[in-house]
Formats: sequence, structure tokens, C-alpha cells
Amino acid sequence: MSSNDFSDRVRGPRIDLATALAKDDDVLVIGLIAPDGSDEAPPTLLVGEDLLDDQTAEQITSGLDALGATGRSGEVHTLPAPDSLPVKRILAVGVGTETDLQDADALRRAAGEAARRLDGAGRVVSTLSAAAVGPAAEGFYLGAYRFDEFRSDKSRSAKRPPEEFRLLAPKSKENRAELDHALIVADSVAVARDLVNTPPSHLYPAEFAERARVLGSKAGLRVEILDEKELAKDGYGGIVGVGQGSSRPPRLVRLIHESKGSDRKVALVGKGITFDTGGISLKPPAGMENMTSDMGGAAAVVATAIAASRLDVDVTVIATVPMAENMPSGTAQRPGDVLTQYGGTTVEVLNTDAEGRLVLADAIVRACEDEPDYLIDTATLTGAQMVALGTRTPGVLGTDEFRDRVAAISQSIGEHGWPMPLPTELRADLDSRVADLANVTNHRWGGMLSAAMFLREFVVDGIGWAHVDVAGPAFNTGSPWGYTGKGGTGVPVRTMIAVLEDVAKDG
Ligand code: BES
Ligand code: MN
Ligand code: ZN
Repeated sequence: MSSNDFSDRVRGPRIDLATALAKDDDVLVIGLIAPDGSDEAPPTLLVGEDLLDDQTAEQITSGLDALGATGRSGEVHTLPAPDSLPVKRILAVGVGTETDLQDADALRRAAGEAARRLDGAGRVVSTLSAAAVGPAAEGFYLGAYRFDEFRSDKSRSAKRPPEEFRLLAPKSKENRAELDHALIVADSVAVARDLVNTPPSHLYPAEFAERARVLGSKAGLRVEILDEKELAKDGYGGIVGVGQGSSRPPRLVRLIHESKGSDRKVALVGKGITFDTGGISLKPPAGMENMTSDMGGAAAVVATAIAASRLDVDVTVIATVPMAENMPSGTAQRPGDVLTQYGGTTVEVLNTDAEGRLVLADAIVRACEDEPDYLIDTATLTGAQMVALGTRTPGVLGTDEFRDRVAAISQSIGEHGWPMPLPTELRADLDSRVADLANVTNHRWGGMLSAAMFLREFVVDGIGWAHVDVAGPAFNTGSPWGYTGKGGTGVPVRTMIAVLEDVAKDG
């Protein structure tokens, strides 16, 4: 039985454990470890015990030496396989030093790097799993991720990623469990990536909600969807206000995973702006196309709820996902309009481009009605996140203890979330001339922090809260690296899954 035949697998290559090379393996992927300290020493091979005889290992090492291989992270070399091996070629990927390898993400990145270079390879066998099965599987799966729904030449086999990865490692119960877990996690990341990569022409609020319903119910979640009429009737003024400029009306999706054993409850909230033009406070044209990713938080939350069900995480998870398109039009909200958020707080909309916090505020108030122990919201919320932390490091804000816990977990799984403060003096800058709150300050300092200060007004006291700003990390507009290609990254799906598992374990 294939180890990854969990019932509702969506996509991706087959990944299995293996104990030896086989005749129809096309490529052997090995790790190359860089020397710690002295740069005189040659890199060493990361291979499982007894896989290669001394002579074969020596042939590979001298071949790599001739190519100038160092084992540095990100480095990749290809060479013909020695005759003693059944495979055609060898791909050696740098994993960094033994010290770098202490962080499992080094292995994940190396596997991803390899998978991105293996188009057309067919069947791949690898020793990276000798170091750890889970990270190797996640790296290969995510590195092999492609989004070609809108390409007409899909069938061009040379551009296709490998169909099968065989991970050399003992077929123990532990290794199988680790592999199954890794594949569900990686596939959930791919679910989020697909949603983010689907263009705004094809993914608008009603369509996003429908996909969440189909994916969610297949995974065993309970799904509830509010349409624009219900949203208006129930007083979701933030979602309605942001959505009213678009011909494609807003939605609120709720996905519920009920734990059998535990009474712990975690609420998830994700920003689902299917396209953000800025509204009447229109964005400049340069780079506006990247605002297709402004539903990255929502995609991650939908994918995480699905993962919670597939992994049967022992904690109740309730996702509340607002979806709207922020467009300028004759029906759009104006700068200076006042809206009433779900729950009654009034907000003066000074800038229609600060729309994420308006839809999130409604969703946060709704999520708190379920009396969760913890609430994680995630959003492509502010350009200021990238000014502060760059494009790959999510900002984590919220209540002190839970914020630090989420950031530490995020770092441990390789998504690098970093804790940021909520300076109380910023609160006064959100005072409005006419309403309870303004949606922006009148200055640009600490933009990520003031957005979170706005959200804080809606989180009920006593709930452990973390807000994860992924404006940069959710969407890679730069070069591919490690297991991250261009476009949707799926960040912070793995952080949220790991937090749910941590709460299931420790409360
Ligand atoms: N979706 C944007 C934030 C964003 C910017 C995400 C770049 C990804 C890349 C958000 O809705 C926005 O426009 N924020 C404004 C807030 C400002 C008006 C206070 C921003 O960051 O400029
Ligand atoms: Mn905006
Ligand atoms: Zn936005």
C-alpha cells in the first residue's frame, strides 16, 4: 500500500519509503554536507549506511570535487552515475554544514531545491531521508509543486516534475507515520498555494467560498456560508462596506473541525480579499497585479482547517473567513464613510485601501462569540510588514504569551515568524473625529503595528491572540529558493498546523 493514500489527497507526486536503489530509478539525489569551519576540507556525502560501497562513494566524491562542489546550501550539481549504480544520474544538493543541519528546514530546503531542478526526471530516489524523513518528504513535495492550470502546454513532459520520490529509510512504523504526516501537511500547503495562484478573474468571493465548501466538506469539515444578503442582515458592516464596490458580492465562510476528545478550542481568521485595487483610495498601477495574493491569509486558514480534519488534531478548530473584492466604483465606499462593524463598533474609513482590517474585525468579533481559548488571524495586511521584516519573515503580534509561542513554533518549522510589539501609544492615533475608531493613523510609522492595534480592539479579553502579517511571505515575487517557487507560498499554513498540534498536546 502506498504510504500516502490518505483518502482525499488533492495533488502532488507519490512519495514512499524505500530500502534500496531500484533499476527503474532515474535519478539519485544525495546531500552534500559542507565542512564546519576549515574551508580546506572537502564536503562529505549525506548517504545512509551501507548504501554505497567505498569505491562508488569515492567515484562520486571525486566527480563532485572536479565540479568544485562545496556543499553550501542551495548548491546543486549533476553528474552521471557510476556504472555500479542502477540509476542514470546523480544530483548532489548542498545542505550546508552539520550545524546548519540541526535545523530541519535545511533539509527541507535542500530537498525542495533538488525537486525544482528535476523536471522530466520521472522516478527519483534519495538519501536525504537518512537525516529525517518528514522534512525530506515536505521539501520534495513542495519543491515539485507546479501551478499550470492556465497553461495550454501542460502535457510537455520535459517540464513536468518527477512523478515519484522514493525516500531511503527503514520502513519502520515511526518513519511511515512521519511520512504520512508530512504529506498531509505538504498537501495542505499546496491547497493554499493553488488558491493564491488562481487569478482574480477566476477566484472571486462566491467562487472562493464554493471551493472552500467543496474542499472542506470532502475533508470532513462542517461548512457554513453567509452570502451578501445574510451579511447585511446580520450587521457585518466591514465585509459589506469593503465588498460593496464590486459587482461580485462578498461572503463569510465558516469551517468547523470538532475534536472528539478535547474541549480546547482554537479560532482561525484569514483575510480573503480576492483582489485589492485599494478601492477609491486607488493603488498605483505598478505591482497591483500582486494583489491577487490578498486572500493569502484566507487560503492558509482554509487549508489549515482541512489539515486539522485530515490529521484529526485533538482540538476543536473553527475557521471564520471573510471574502470580498476591493474595487472602486459608483457603489464603492468613500474615504470618510462611517461603517458599523459586526458587534456595533463604528469605524471611520479614512482610507479604503486599509480594507483588510475592516473585514477581519467583523470576522474576529464573530470568531470570539464561539469563546475560543486561542485566536490566530493571518493576513496580507500591510506593506509595512515588508518594510520592517523583509519579504520572507512574517510579523507576529498579539497577546504576549501566545504571540511568543506562535513565533517560536513558526521558527521551529521554518516559516520564521518574528514577534513584534503593540506599542500602546499608537492607540490614540486611531481615534476618529466622528466614530469609535478610524481605520488608519495619520502617519506612516509602525504601519504593521497600528494595523494590529486596530484589530486588538475587536479581540475579547482573555483569549490568547496572535495576528500573523504575511504581506510579503504569502507570495513570492522574487526568485525561487529552497522549496518555495514563484507565486503563492502557502505561508503560514505550517505554522498554524504546528500551533494546533502544540495546543492539542499542551493545552
Ligand atoms: N493588501 C495590502 C497590503 C499589502 C501590500 C500586501 C503589499 C501585500 C503586498 C493592504 O490592504 C493595504 O493596502 N495596506 C495599506 C495600509 C495603509 C493604507 C494604511 C498599506 O500597507 O499601504
Ligand atoms: Mn489595501
Ligand atoms: Zn489588502
